[in-house]
Amino acid sequence: MVKNILCIGAGYVGGPTMAVIADRCPDIRVTVVDINEKRIAEWNSDRLPIYEPGLEEVVRRCRGRNLFYSADIPRGIREADVIFVSVNTPTKTFGAGAGKAADLQYLEKTARSIVEYAEGDKIVVEKSTLPVRTAEALSRVLHANAKGLKFQIISNPEFLAEGTAIADLNDPDRVLIGGMETPEGRAALEEIVSVYARWVPRERIITTNLWSSELTKLVSNALLAQRVSSINSISALCERTGANVHEVARAAGRDSRIGAKFLKPGVGFGGSCFKKDILNLVYLCEHYGLPEVAEYWLDVVKMNEFQAARFVGNMVDAMFNTVAGKRVAILGFAFKADTGDTRESPAIDVCRRLLAEHAELAIFDPKALDNAKRDLADAPAGAVKFCASAAEAAEGAHAIALLTDWKEFRELDFEEIYRSMQKPAFLFDGRDLLDHRRLFELGFNVYPIGCGALTHFGEA
Ligand code: UDX
Ligand code: ADP
Repeated sequence: MVKNILCIGAGYVGGPTMAVIADRCPDIRVTVVDINEKRIAEWNSDRLPIYEPGLEEVVRRCRGRNLFYSADIPRGIREADVIFVSVNTPTKTFGAGAGKAADLQYLEKTARSIVEYAEGDKIVVEKSTLPVRTAEALSRVLHANAKGLKFQIISNPEFLAEGTAIADLNDPDRVLIGGMETPEGRAALEEIVSVYARWVPRERIITTNLWSSELTKLVSNALLAQRVSSINSISALCERTGANVHEVARAAGRDSRIGAKFLKPGVGFGGSCFKKDILNLVYLCEHYGLPEVAEYWLDVVKMNEFQAARFVGNMVDAMFNTVAGKRVAILGFAFKADTGDTRESPAIDVCRRLLAEHAELAIFDPKALDNAKRDLADAPAGAVKFCASAAEAAEGAHAIALLTDWKEFRELDFEEIYRSMQKPAFLFDGRDLLDHRRLFELGFNVYPIGCGALTHFGEA
């Protein structure tokens, strides 16, 4: 019976996942540790380090009861019988595999800490996204111990999406648990199954071998991202042909073999996982001598970059071939609604491209301004303003670029916003979130994604 769970890494994955495990398993003591002491202090405060709907309630319910945040990593390791590892595994920026392979230095350091402080056998669960066969490396590091300790490695990839993390954890489509095909491996796997089985129906808990589980995480994200890139590629064709991408997506998605989800066109996908995981997959394919397969998946990322470039290209074209010296209001900077996370947000790419065109940016996001400031810290002096509201960003602007699908943008007073802008006023809806017909009637020249622009310029 699992009594003591430790999670190493108190980020977007470890934080919410452990909160829900603690909530669902009151008899298990759950401790979350991190090398970043400031982050731990925030988890222990009233202002959690990440914004996630519903998270605060769960943390408030469990913290101090059976959920603890601590900077004492050695003690955490000593006391735990199960250790979840959810440290960051970013794309390597240096050396072999730079730009594609996963940087496993944080994972290896974690493994070394476990070896150093453990005093008994443990189950070690990979939660972070990892390249296939990482478990093997992890196992080698762990077993290079002179204490005679035994570690069972389990892969339990996380499928939560930011913004809906708590709901995803409480009611997952599936939980995937991979283990070694040995008697000890199977026993460890059953221990982890028994944790989730407290609230997840058994038929939704899938068990596989370690390598299948590791690869499934990469494949799931690659397939989801591929759908987004597929519909975005079609949005470009729709803009040229007079077809409407939403009608196409709705009609195609009604085929139950295709399905309606993840066919929403936009300015491109972002987030910490999609690009990183595809590049990881690409690197694996190259490593295993499959350049054609690598190339196939790399195109999903290329299409995403094309979409952001195309969006800015359309803006410049529409605004008489120049945005130099023009104020552009950026509505939304997070990579999607309901999160403050900006990792790989298409807004970063769009803003950089606009800055390269010498535009002046006025940025508003309800939750992501702090991260946006960090992401654009190297922008030319005076070229970027961060605003306290959408109305403030739009005041005196030539154009609005909507880049995140925050629902509250639908409720803005566009009549007033239109009045406060330069004329002709342009609106580029990078998420097709707004009521375009109404905005057009208010006077805006409206440029959606994947369907015809609504402009007051008449035929050329
Ligand atoms: C993703 C996976 O969904 C999740 O299972 C995995 O654990 C982590 O990666 P996340 O990155 O949090 O989750 O967000 P997701 O909702 O998948 O969206 C990713 C990006 O794709 C966002 O930028 C979103 O705006 C974009 N997207 C998504 C679209 O542009 N169109 C869509 O139809 C769906
Ligand atoms: P994710 O989105 O995968 O959760 P984050 O970057 O949000 O990624 O979180 C990863 C966390 O792991 C960070 O808070 C980081 O400080 C922590 N971390 C990295 N290396 C170690 C380590 N060796 N020991 C403990 N924590 C670590």
